[in-house]
Amino acid sequence: MHIVMISAELAPVAKVGGLADVVFGLSRELEIRGNAVEIILPKYDCMWYDEIWGLHKIWENLWVPWYGSGVNCSVWFGFVHGRKCFFIEPHSPDNFFDRGSFYGFHDDPLRFAFFCKAAMEFMHKGNKRPDIIHCHDWQTGLIPVLLFEIYERLGMNRQRVVYTIHNFKHQGITGEAVLWATGLCRPEYYFHHDRLRDNFNNTAINLMKGGIVYSNYVNTVSPHHSWEARFTDQGYGLGQTLAIHHYKFGGILNGVDYDVWNPETDRFIPSHYNVWNVESKYGNKDALRERLWLRKEFKPIVAYVGRLDAQKGVHLIQHALFYTLERGGQFVMLGAGGDRGINNHFWHLKHYLNENADCHLEIGFNEQLAHLIYAGADICIVPSLFEPCGLAQLIAMRYGSVPVVRAVGGLVDTVFDRDNSDKLPEDRNGYVFKDADFKGLESALSRALGLWFGYPKEFRRLITNALSFDSSWAQSGQRYIEVYDHIRCK
Ligand code: ADP
Ligand code: GLC
Repeated sequence: MHIVMISAELAPVAKVGGLADVVFGLSRELEIRGNAVEIILPKYDCMWYDEIWGLHKIWENLWVPWYGSGVNCSVWFGFVHGRKCFFIEPHSPDNFFDRGSFYGFHDDPLRFAFFCKAAMEFMHKGNKRPDIIHCHDWQTGLIPVLLFEIYERLGMNRQRVVYTIHNFKHQGITGEAVLWATGLCRPEYYFHHDRLRDNFNNTAINLMKGGIVYSNYVNTVSPHHSWEARFTDQGYGLGQTLAIHHYKFGGILNGVDYDVWNPETDRFIPSHYNVWNVESKYGNKDALRERLWLRKEFKPIVAYVGRLDAQKGVHLIQHALFYTLERGGQFVMLGAGGDRGINNHFWHLKHYLNENADCHLEIGFNEQLAHLIYAGADICIVPSLFEPCGLAQLIAMRYGSVPVVRAVGGLVDTVFDRDNSDKLPEDRNGYVFKDADFKGLESALSRALGLWFGYPKEFRRLITNALSFDSSWAQSGQRYIEVYDHIRCK
């Protein structure tokens, strides 16, 4: 099959969170299984260009209709760790993708609506006719709308769309300008409840809703979250839309790319290891301490790696820090985020704890350090308020760090409590808590720390269980192929 992925992120070159990892890892898995995969991305100025191989311009003047007139674009081609990627660069005074960061601008919906329009024009004029177009999150919700309302009539009538929702909280709710701009020129038609009209705000359109309504198959990134999105408030207002389209909606668990995240070969860690020689993991613990000026003592390291966003349970991250110090452990955090308030809060905390040699807060995005933390930590916390899948706990387990997680979303599908689970003892791989409050967090973290201090052999067994957990793309890759095969035009 020929599959075109359209996404706002791709690891490692344009990464904010797990979306980037998933687009990379899934594409690789699909290729391993004999499919032809191409990826279309915006050409951001802030990409990690060192990791793009053979980047060159393949199209100088791609004319993209925009607001009744048009914008000229260049299209670039290059390989990202073997994946074939096309990068769209508009030449417009708006500088849509030359702003020094991926998101966070008042016109984000317009920026990504433009990206969708340009991606469709590129496929249309470049005679690309994939079997499947696979889009991700609100930024590409307009792709199936444009395909079935405009480009189908222009010869793209055998393409089918899979739409994967990684995060229901961000839906691309915006005004009608986006419709006019992209050539969807009958606002009253699109403002209909059955199409793009937002379920709460009658005067707004919802790009994610468009993606759900128009795609041939829709999924979120874990089975448990597909249930939460439909039946709890975690669909953020789209539960009723999912109910109407339930026949084409499901949950497919994310995997982790076993080449990128591999403690046996990782280029960012000094000491390689696997389930048979876990001792070598501790070389990374030493390296981590050295790098972050933590004192060398017989103490467990508890870590958090992730976005600093309300979704991630920031009050619980902070509590975990103080609780860990109180219990005689060390704490490491690596986080970045778009929310200025939360960022400032952690900057203050960092200054407050400046002299403390048992903890380190690193604020910013740092891929290399993330790898070293997963490898060097004993325990990784994921105390999220909601979590569609979560890769942090999967990566932590891949590096033999014991996950302590809240029982939501994909965390429920992947982490099984050591003491309270119906799984076999060898399948129990971490600690789980329910309530999003300090007591809840402590109920799990205290057990993890207690095991580390009191029962090293048992803790070691838990590490082995975590390392043995299968989080590869094998099963889920197969599942996506079945979906593609089911909906494609034969
Ligand atoms: P989300 O997609 O909600 O951010 P996930 O757990 O699915 O959460 O994926 C997060 C990914 O982003 C992981 O690969 C994690 O290691 C990475 N990551 C998050 N924050 C940072 C950071 N500050 N520096 C480096 N990597 C980060
Ligand atoms: C999202 C979710 C996260 C998921 C990731 C990749 O941003 O917050 O739970 O793992 O996308 O699908």
